[in-house]
Amino acid sequence: MNTFLKNMSKYLYYILLILKTQENVFLCKRLNVEIVNTHSFSKTLKIGHGGRPDSLYRNVNSLHFLNINSINISINFTILYINLNFLCLIIYCLYLINIKIHTDKLNLHYDKVQALKDVSLDIESNKITALIGPSGCGKSTYLRTINRMNDLIQGVKIKGTVKIDGIDIYGKGIDVVKLRRRVGMVFQKSNAFPKSVFDNVAYGPKINGIKNKNRLTEIVETSLQRAAIWNEVKDRLNEFAFSLSGGQQQRLCIARALAVNPEIILMDEPASALDPISTAKIEELIFELKKSITIVIVTHNLQQAARVSDFCAFFLMGELIELGASKQIFTAPKDERTQNYITGRFG
Ligand SMILES: Nc1ncnc2c1ncn2[C@@H]1O[C@H](COP(=O)(O)OP(=O)(O)OP(=O)(O)O)[C@@H](O)[C@H]1O
Ligand SMILES: [Mg+2]
Repeated sequence: MNTFLKNMSKYLYYILLILKTQENVFLCKRLNVEIVNTHSFSKTLKIGHGGRPDSLYRNVNSLHFLNINSINISINFTILYINLNFLCLIIYCLYLINIKIHTDKLNLHYDKVQALKDVSLDIESNKITALIGPSGCGKSTYLRTINRMNDLIQGVKIKGTVKIDGIDIYGKGIDVVKLRRRVGMVFQKSNAFPKSVFDNVAYGPKINGIKNKNRLTEIVETSLQRAAIWNEVKDRLNEFAFSLSGGQQQRLCIARALAVNPEIILMDEPASALDPISTAKIEELIFELKKSITIVIVTHNLQQAARVSDFCAFFLMGELIELGASKQIFTAPKDERTQNYITGRFG
């Protein structure tokens, strides 16, 4: 839908440009006619004074007619132009409303290594966007720019814009802790804390100042349910998190991220270390979560990207090569390099 809106406003903008040019061409032509006519009019005027008032009258009339006509058409052009301009603006606003994360000309250097090159990418609200590409192409780096996790790495230089809901997250006055609360992250290797299952999930809400035991219990239960692990752990809430299986620990980490009600969840290969059953559970869960959360997922598993994502972005050597609806990327990619990657010719 969003791509449709973006294209609509783009094409409408082109139509406007053509229209403006047409209007100018039209006016120039009219002006020529008028000049010619004025010339013949003045000639006639001279002759007319010689005793042919009827021809003078005819010429004045036709000149008058031409002028009215020019003005009318020109006004019509302008009215159409303004209306289309307005329509273009409305469509573009609708498009912007649907954009959760907007990145523009993003460049990132780790000292001398440039990991991202002019990446411009818009990520839609409540959709799953998959980032794919060969190892070292900048997927994780891009992901980390969305919640400013790269800030924690020494020697990182970032240029460009990253906006969430239209606000520049690298701008002045941005509270990074608040930002990371809004933008949760799940890593490739589950990173459960050395605490009980309950305390893992209650950790974020406690830090946010929630102390009431009943409220905490409620949040822990809801988060574990949303992460599709409640039934497996409801009788093990006081057990050490490390006693859970790898797949369960990963879903526990997702529950922990959900407990602070994030608007966006970034997932860096969340299922790459899991068996097919746990992977399927994570995929189902991701699908369920997108009703209320925007999800950006990095994966090397192209089948998984095709299965779960709405949009897919292909990265290569720090550049965004192609972004499109996943169906289009996996069936009819526009760029030859995307085609080569998805058909396994490199990477
Ligand atoms: N902390 C760091 N310090 C220096 N260079 C780094 C750091 N992290 C990543 N890089 C470099 O930045 C580039 C992009 O790395 P990144 O981890 O974003 O790739 P990736 O696409 O996630 O790869 P993979 O699929 O293997 O996880 C690589 O050349 C990598 O060596
Ligand atoms: Mg990575």
